[in-house]
Amino acid sequence: MAILVTGGAGFIGSHTCVELIAAGYELLVIDNLCNSRAEAVSRVEQITGQSVVFLKLDLLDKPALDACFAQHKIEAVIHFAGLKAVGESVSKPLLYYHNNIEGTLNLLAAMQRHGVSDLIFSSSATVYGDPDSVPITEEAAVRPTNPYGRTKLMIEDMLSDLTASPADNHIWRVVLLRYFNPVGAHPSGLIGEDPSDIPNNLVPYIAQVAVGKLQQLSVFGDDYATPDGTGVRDYIHVMDLSNGHVKALQWLQQQDAGSSMCEVFNLGTGTGYSVLEMINAFEQASGQPVPYKIVARREGDIATCYADPQKAQHLLQWQADKNLSEMMADTWRWQSSNPNGYDDPQE
Ligand code: NAD
Ligand code: WQD
Repeated sequence: MAILVTGGAGFIGSHTCVELIAAGYELLVIDNLCNSRAEAVSRVEQITGQSVVFLKLDLLDKPALDACFAQHKIEAVIHFAGLKAVGESVSKPLLYYHNNIEGTLNLLAAMQRHGVSDLIFSSSATVYGDPDSVPITEEAAVRPTNPYGRTKLMIEDMLSDLTASPADNHIWRVVLLRYFNPVGAHPSGLIGEDPSDIPNNLVPYIAQVAVGKLQQLSVFGDDYATPDGTGVRDYIHVMDLSNGHVKALQWLQQQDAGSSMCEVFNLGTGTGYSVLEMINAFEQASGQPVPYKIVARREGDIATCYADPQKAQHLLQWQADKNLSEMMADTWRWQSSNPNGYDDPQE
């Protein structure tokens, strides 16, 4: 029996594969490689010393997905596959609704057809939009502010509806994981975040400035109501996040197999850092300067966002262990040893 990992060649998926293998699970990875490289899966094999079954497969390809379920014994699904760029979702909303919603619907239909009950879904703190207060608990209001975030909330709602209705007597056991800001890389430096274009997110941008690929960072606003005026976020090491998936899967598999359930968890550290603190921490960890300039706020950004992670601590027995300097040191190890990501011409 295998765990089906959709989007397993991507940033969080590849790191979670390492943790799942370490926990003794057998994997089946599918990915259409629209935002990743098959090399990531080879590196997972290199780190773990185990071979991983990988299929290049698009969730929009229903017959191929059905054949995949027919040919492999799947005990549970961890569903990372999706498009995730906020700005692109504003300019191409149909692409996002089509890929993320329809891809998930196809996956759920295949699970139902083949009697697979257990699902872990990659949701996001983006569903909270601009929170009324911090730290953010799972009970906080959800009001995403862009099409990407709305695809996450729609999928959460779909899954919640599904678990509330005895559809064809199918039992669904679902965990929704709302990630805060994943950063860092595997400590080996073999896998990490490999944006295909100029990075949208802070830490990969800083890393590319430090390695000399980009000239300087633009800090989006220094007039927020935060201690130094720059945005504050809950950055979480991708290995801690990956471990959260293993804990969630183990917990899910211990739940009553006779009734449907859907449970949501924040995965964050509970601590917020500002953009200027992040720059400073990266300079310390890498020994490289990160030149920056303050520019106007980015549309849609909020001042402060960090998690209340207590529910995951209590129920999943999980908490983030890695500190900011480990996040930055591991990012730097990955970036400096793979300056062009998985595309490195030296290979
Ligand atoms: P990623 O882009 O690195 O990984 C997603 C993977 O899904 C990619 O490898 C991509 O090729 C694949 N994919 C996309 N559409 C597909 C389809 N139709 N069929 C098959 N494969 C498809 O992104 P990530 O950072 O690893 O994020 C993983 C998940 O976590 C996503 O669902 C994302 O929305 C969610 N998430 C990410 C963050 C973040 O900041 N990285 C935060 C919260 C939630
Ligand atoms: C962090 C901070 C920026 C880039 C996004 C998505 C969210 C989730 C995680 C998927 C903010 C500032 C950034 C730069 C900067 N993804 N910044 N210069 O916006 O918190 O969250 O990724 O679910 O949905 O919205 O992350 O890394 O883009 O920004 O000053 O070049 O860094 O203003 O304060 P964000 P981020």
